[in-house]
Amino acid sequence: MKSNTFLSLFLIVISGQFFPGCIEGEYGKHNAANLRCEYMINPMGLDTHSPRFTWQLVDHTTGAKQTAYQIIAGKDSARVSWGKGDLWDSGKISSGKMLVSYEGAELEPLSRYFWTVRIWNGNSVPGEFHGVASFETGMMGFERWQGKWISDSQEINIKSAAYFRKEFQAKDDIVSARAYIAVAGLYELHINGENVGDERLKPAFTRYDKRVLYHTIDVTKFLNTNENVIGVLLGNGWYNHQSTAVWDFHKAPWRARPKFKMELHLNYEDGSAEVIPTSVKWKTSFGPITFNSIYTGEHMDHRLLQNAWDSPGFDDTEWKDAIMVEPPTINVVAEVMPPIRNVEAIPARKISKLNEKTFVFDFGRIISGVSEIKVKGEQGTVIHLKHGEQLAENGHVDLTALEVHYRPVDDTDPFQTDIFILSGEGEESFMPSFNYKGFQYVEVTSSKPISLTKESLTAYFMHSDVEQVGYIESSDTLINKIWQAANSSYLSNLFGYPTDCPQREKNGWTGDAHTAIELGLFNFNGIKIYEKWMADHRDEQRDNGVLPAIIPTAGWGYHWANGPDWTSTIALIPWNIYLFYGDTRILEENYENIKLYVDHLQEISPDYLTDWGLGDWVPIQSKSDVELTSSIFYYTDALILSKIARILNKNDDSEVYLALASKIKDAINNKFLDKEKAIYASGFQTELSVPLYWGVVPENMKAKVAASLAQTIEDNGTQLDVGILGSKAILNALSENGYANLAYQLASNKKYPSWGWWIANGATTLFENWDINANRDLSLNHIMFGEISAWYFKALGGINIDESTPGFKNILLKPNFVTGLEEFKASHKGPYGEITSEWVRVDNNILYSVRIPPNSSATLMVNADEISGLEYLNDAGADQVDFTKIELVAGSHEFIIHIKTAE
Ligand code: BGC
Repeated sequence: MKSNTFLSLFLIVISGQFFPGCIEGEYGKHNAANLRCEYMINPMGLDTHSPRFTWQLVDHTTGAKQTAYQIIAGKDSARVSWGKGDLWDSGKISSGKMLVSYEGAELEPLSRYFWTVRIWNGNSVPGEFHGVASFETGMMGFERWQGKWISDSQEINIKSAAYFRKEFQAKDDIVSARAYIAVAGLYELHINGENVGDERLKPAFTRYDKRVLYHTIDVTKFLNTNENVIGVLLGNGWYNHQSTAVWDFHKAPWRARPKFKMELHLNYEDGSAEVIPTSVKWKTSFGPITFNSIYTGEHMDHRLLQNAWDSPGFDDTEWKDAIMVEPPTINVVAEVMPPIRNVEAIPARKISKLNEKTFVFDFGRIISGVSEIKVKGEQGTVIHLKHGEQLAENGHVDLTALEVHYRPVDDTDPFQTDIFILSGEGEESFMPSFNYKGFQYVEVTSSKPISLTKESLTAYFMHSDVEQVGYIESSDTLINKIWQAANSSYLSNLFGYPTDCPQREKNGWTGDAHTAIELGLFNFNGIKIYEKWMADHRDEQRDNGVLPAIIPTAGWGYHWANGPDWTSTIALIPWNIYLFYGDTRILEENYENIKLYVDHLQEISPDYLTDWGLGDWVPIQSKSDVELTSSIFYYTDALILSKIARILNKNDDSEVYLALASKIKDAINNKFLDKEKAIYASGFQTELSVPLYWGVVPENMKAKVAASLAQTIEDNGTQLDVGILGSKAILNALSENGYANLAYQLASNKKYPSWGWWIANGATTLFENWDINANRDLSLNHIMFGEISAWYFKALGGINIDESTPGFKNILLKPNFVTGLEEFKASHKGPYGEITSEWVRVDNNILYSVRIPPNSSATLMVNADEISGLEYLNDAGADQVDFTKIELVAGSHEFIIHIKTAE
């Protein structure tokens, strides 16, 4: 086919799918856009003295770039918008950087600041200061707090949730008001009858005796001119874990009755200010929440409702005074990250009436979150709402697979179950405030007959509300389904820290999180959640460097499952954040902790090998050598540490840990590599993929080991035989070493064991076990097998990070046009903007188009073994002769790629 015929075909196929425009802006003009401070839009309550600013360039010119920038910051938004910075004027800085830390005059606490940026383009023409963004500082230190820690009691076994209220009279018209609230436990803030904010399960879980989080909230619009009431409702969360669970959270050293401190800062029209702090003058009472457990459920008795408890005019003479209590810790730190929300409302797909008092609702997909019931009934009717992922044959919700770690002491606290008692007054509704569950089905059982319809129950998908930044679309619907299922499981396991599952444990299992880190970052803007989780790591690390298997922990996990194959999160999470965002702050913050960890591994591994770890968890058949996999994580940590040391200019350290890494690598290869057979250990799939993926295989053995891996897979009927460590490595190990087609065969397999097998069986999430009938380890919402989603971006879309220019400054484009796949599109919004890579197969040719965001570039690499030629449809690249490696500037590029035909 001639290329001009091809060109028209190409344009037909691509038009309508390809958007050359950027987010905003006119042609011929350039501007800064997407101004973020600390990766958030106009954040409030920052404790840091050097917040980070990021922005992007809107410029439609091919090869658009930033040659210089100028940042302005000040307290007066109008002056800032004119380019006048009372606090900071960086002046013109010749640099392409779009991530810059504040360096102006010292920031004051409790203050609002504005900032803007302008950009000089590729022709050194300055743009305008475009838009003003803001940020606000918080307490910046515990000594500033005026509010006292208060509670209603010291008794940890009280089951009812405590309500607090404070009435006050505003002295004048209020121009602005901020609430600062720190809570050990969970809270809802109400002002004048309204629940302030749509955030849920706040603040996030931390190791409460080391670090408690506080929020800064703009409450101006909730306040009245005269009478006002602040209402606070406290829940137990992980602070006062009353349910008994296997990982001992009910024995947490920090455990106490939930407590809080708060202060309301009011600025009046007349220029005066007032602070209303928590004190023993606040009133407290029990209310209708008679029990709440983050782990099991919530019990609500509407007969105990105190209507308008949070509004002026309520009679609180029966309420008692709050008491002053010990602070959980003095380390009260601002929470600055996307909050948990009810992100999606899901209507029931089906209702089945099992009898007059029992109904089962099916929401059609598995989620994490809560259900809300709307119902009418007689006073005293007791309704149980049991949430689960599976149904038994008799149609009832079956919790057998999920209850395994639950250790109830009596039958008052059923698992994954809310209990709702009706007041009998009209239609009543209930959704728990302080609990979430993992479920697809809800079984509603009532003590008296009630009538329910499909509309009576709504499910809410809850998770940390992170922005979606990655998309996959393909002609293979299985790919689309697996990708969506992986996203559902990833989000179901993001609650201010990454968890293993939203039902059985809700724990920050380290191994699960590092296997999922790339899929997480390709698809969601998660940096702030992970920065917070690394602070959790620092709180949990023992003086000898050891980390627990779950983070946060109440003390469990320092003696089991915490080898380097799990707790290498300490190195892998910061490293991946750095690679995806090009930001070194997380490296600086965790450097000493990574070093302490690697030093500990070194101390316990005199021969440079370690068998400390769980190994390839939930394997199919073969049990891989634990010493091999754990030592590879030890190697990876030492290597990452050496690289970080280099980045942070700690060159001596860098040399030391590079030498250590090389000794570990030698020890692994000496012990496990059989050069004759080109296998490691027994040559199982995990034992070959893990060394290939993590870069342990000597250069001259790579092709042979990859061939052995391919052979082993084929000998196994092209079926997987891996657990979680192998599943992270296998597809990458194949596609990075010339076996992309084989990787795709595994990835698109629909027979047991495979991702496709789950989907074929109706999965809407990823499971914990390849075997869907397993009698243990069978949560239906785990993310630990999720790397396949990251592999779509890397191997099929070809979007890869260039380690020497992290944050997608230069993108390594290495798409694999795998046999059997017709169309594929991946996009990822990185620090410079949206990268798009898409291809369509037409006969033996590929129509390939990419978009590279302004101020970044790409290197396109195609495999000469598979490709016989490439036509570049843009003029810009006409002089590039080596078609296997093409340098691309920012903008849109289209190619026709000729695939070699089999001889
Ligand atoms: C968790 C896992 C975890 C594993 C390790 C399980 O109970 O759910 O996902 O990584 O334990 O032992």
